[in-house]
Amino acid sequence: MLRQDSFHSLSRTERVANLDATQQPVATKAGSSIVRIVGLAVACLSLASCTGIQSALDPAGEEADQVATLFWVMTIGGLLIWALMVVLALYASQWKKRPTSEENANRFIVWGGVVFPVTVLTALLSYALWLMPSLRPFAGGDQASLRMEVVGHQFWWRVVYHRPDGTAVVSANEVRLPVGQRVEFELTSADMIHSFWIPALGGKMDLIPGRTNRLSLSATKVGTYRGQCAEFCGTSHARMAFPAVVMEQAEFDSWLDARGQASVGMAADGRTLFETAGCGDCHSVDASVAASSKGPDLSHIGSRLTIGAGSLPNEVETLARFIAHPASIKPGAKMPPSTDLSVDEINQIATWLKGLQ
Ligand code: CUA
Repeated sequence: MLRQDSFHSLSRTERVANLDATQQPVATKAGSSIVRIVGLAVACLSLASCTGIQSALDPAGEEADQVATLFWVMTIGGLLIWALMVVLALYASQWKKRPTSEENANRFIVWGGVVFPVTVLTALLSYALWLMPSLRPFAGGDQASLRMEVVGHQFWWRVVYHRPDGTAVVSANEVRLPVGQRVEFELTSADMIHSFWIPALGGKMDLIPGRTNRLSLSATKVGTYRGQCAEFCGTSHARMAFPAVVMEQAEFDSWLDARGQASVGMAADGRTLFETAGCGDCHSVDASVAASSKGPDLSHIGSRLTIGAGSLPNEVETLARFIAHPASIKPGAKMPPSTDLSVDEINQIATWLKGLQ
């Protein structure tokens, strides 16, 4: 075999001949690389956890179950066909070439190249279409026990619970639903196209300005999951998330009843500061302290799991940080920094907000 530095001094014919001479070791190397890559992929797949609060492969709802089933059917179907193709390719390259009749070749092309793919693709497509919840007539909202309106904003969610008795409860940046009940979401947007997606509970649906899209979900497991805006909508798109809490029916009912009442713990210095600092120009608190709907409703904010639409845990310290300089946590947020307030005043407002249970 030639050394690397002398290779470039050869003529083209000699180089090709030289490459042919080195064919065997190269093929072996390539073979061992493929084995390594496949081994790594298999190890990654088995190591990678498919569980979690934001995983479509760890379903906690009827619709998510169907999405996960479809994923596995497609993946396993694809792998089987891929394995068959690899076997055929190896057979074609390794075994001695034997002459075959034109009739045999044509038959192979018709069965392997037309009948097989058409059958497989038709079967997989029919199965997928049959599963798609939005195409099925019984996924309609007429069976829903609760109607929930979700409006996307840059970069937060307005959530309104419409109860069967006609009353409504306004909230933001958190979705709670009763287990085993069908909930109908009415989705729209105030500015950009957003997308409402709770992977553990079901598929995603766009929120489009000037239009209402519907999504019907039925949770099957109590727990706290994570939803996320799934359509790029600006700088803080990735920070437009929300906890999705699935509760037992009785627990949910008493939770929603409490949200329909005024927030507890309203008397504090923070309340006066909140009112005088102009927070009420954008926010609403029980419609008694402040009643603007430009920004997220802050009634009962102390009992929410996160602040800033899933950006940070809900604590006095994080609330104070958000009030002082929202853009440091959520770039592009429309809320201005609180430059007129002292650190102490900001802390008082944060303490009061955290107390709104
Ligand atoms: Cu809203 Cu991305």
